[in-house]
Amino acid sequence: MPIGRHRFPYARSVRRASTWGLLLGLALPGPTAHGQSTAAAPSPARQTGPAAPVALTVDASAKGPTISRHLFGQFAEHLGRGVYEGVWVGPDSLIPNTRGMRNDVVAALKALKVPNVRWPGGCFADEYHWRNGIGPVAERRATLNPNWGGVIEPNTFGTREFMDFADQIGADAYLSVNVGSGTPHEAADWLEYLTTAQPTALAREREANGHQAPYRIPFLGIGNESWDCGGNMSPEYYLSQLRIYSRFVRNFNPAQQQGSGQMLKIAVGPGGDGPRWTEWTETIMKAYKARQWSWDMQGLSMHQYTVVRWPPAYKSVGFGETEYAQILKSTLEMDGLIAKHAAIMDKYDPEKKVALVVDEWGAWYAKLPDTPEGFLEQQNSLRDGILAALNINIFARHADRVRMANIAQMVNVLQAMILTQKDKMVLTPTYHVFKMYVPFQDATFVPVTFAAGTYTAGAITLPRVDAIAARDASGTVWLALTNLDPTKPAEIAATVSGVAARTAAGETLTAPAVDSVNTFEAPATVAPRPATAVVQGGRVSITLAPKSVTVLAVRP
Ligand code: AHR
Repeated sequence: MPIGRHRFPYARSVRRASTWGLLLGLALPGPTAHGQSTAAAPSPARQTGPAAPVALTVDASAKGPTISRHLFGQFAEHLGRGVYEGVWVGPDSLIPNTRGMRNDVVAALKALKVPNVRWPGGCFADEYHWRNGIGPVAERRATLNPNWGGVIEPNTFGTREFMDFADQIGADAYLSVNVGSGTPHEAADWLEYLTTAQPTALAREREANGHQAPYRIPFLGIGNESWDCGGNMSPEYYLSQLRIYSRFVRNFNPAQQQGSGQMLKIAVGPGGDGPRWTEWTETIMKAYKARQWSWDMQGLSMHQYTVVRWPPAYKSVGFGETEYAQILKSTLEMDGLIAKHAAIMDKYDPEKKVALVVDEWGAWYAKLPDTPEGFLEQQNSLRDGILAALNINIFARHADRVRMANIAQMVNVLQAMILTQKDKMVLTPTYHVFKMYVPFQDATFVPVTFAAGTYTAGAITLPRVDAIAARDASGTVWLALTNLDPTKPAEIAATVSGVAARTAAGETLTAPAVDSVNTFEAPATVAPRPATAVVQGGRVSITLAPKSVTVLAVRP
């Protein structure tokens, strides 16, 4: 939709969404299905007095879809200090590094068990020519990055460096190929260069550049936002490109991690709410249904930022409860947007073969003062940790269709996991939430029913609590509980069946204020602390701190 268009030199447009309340057929319908859609009637004024306890029912024997680990994917674009400084300092740097990658950042990301990293963009991808980023570093051509500050792109971080970085953190590669200003030939060559084991000229070039074995590329994005920075294409025009790229851009390495040895091809999808975007999804999915053998896709991308107003005006630190509530309200619109596009996909793909891939999401605020235009630098507060938990919960409830997501972006850009300043690094509240949620990666979704109640701030009414549950391969049941209310604790009484619960313990993330942040001087203001629940006769009871995210392991 673009809710607005911002024509500063490196302009971007942004999209937003609406709401829904179904739980993918997994949760029970009606007033106890899922907090967000079953909140009690909004109260016009701020609640006073003690809030009623929240009763949760968790049936751990019910079998839902797998919550793919790829929902916890990251996005690293050549943008501002995201790659250069954030990840790459070069082998000659005084900052401890391994082949140019900063060791502190790599270690922190390894602990997150990052499943995949999307690279090189973003808008950057549709102006990226891979040949500029291979071969001896000293011989690489410097180019420009017109989307993001117009700075020089030295191309020192190229294909080999990205693949090495992904390897160092243990993540899969999700490459976006250039459709906007590239050609199918260029993209096909890149994939051959990367993946063939046969002694072709491109494979020999790869070997000469230091990598003999073919790489694995499990995920391939065919273009990025082709309706805007990726080439201003109509859905029909993009479709014609998709057909061609999808046909000719091949992966020659059978040793792919995705079951069938296949590389999953992800088409550009919608960027928000409104007829423009439903038409886009319709066009691609209709063609998918009618396609013949010679082209295919396994994913449809969707981008959805939490921004409220364009250009981004909300502050990332130094805000109050009103802005807290407004941003959370906006972020919850992700649910309705997924529902809307998933319903269109169901029409053409009832077997849900095509994944909805939310490969750009997160909060987009006003840039921090004194940071360059186009670098998208913002702080990351407790509000962002809560926002991350709410979105992950939404993705998990849609896990039958949403099988991959990538938060924007990994380091120093937008809703980052990590901020760096020279040799210093700080972990953000969003990082901590991603870490607390690691046990949900590839766990089985378990339905939770509850009446969320409401939290009201001025004219805004939100669910008071949110919750999801999952069972991992060892049989442990994981409960993620969020208390959105910034002033009142929430008493939770969860009846857990399907596991003989004896203990429930984990971690809670909260902080003194909704806008509490971690800084280089005070890096642990927002940090997880141990949490223990009382377990009695299959009942798990815990009081959630105001404005908090808690993850508990419920064990026999
Ligand atoms: O994440 C920043 C930018 O937002 C990406 O480059 C683009 O795809 C989106 O509009």
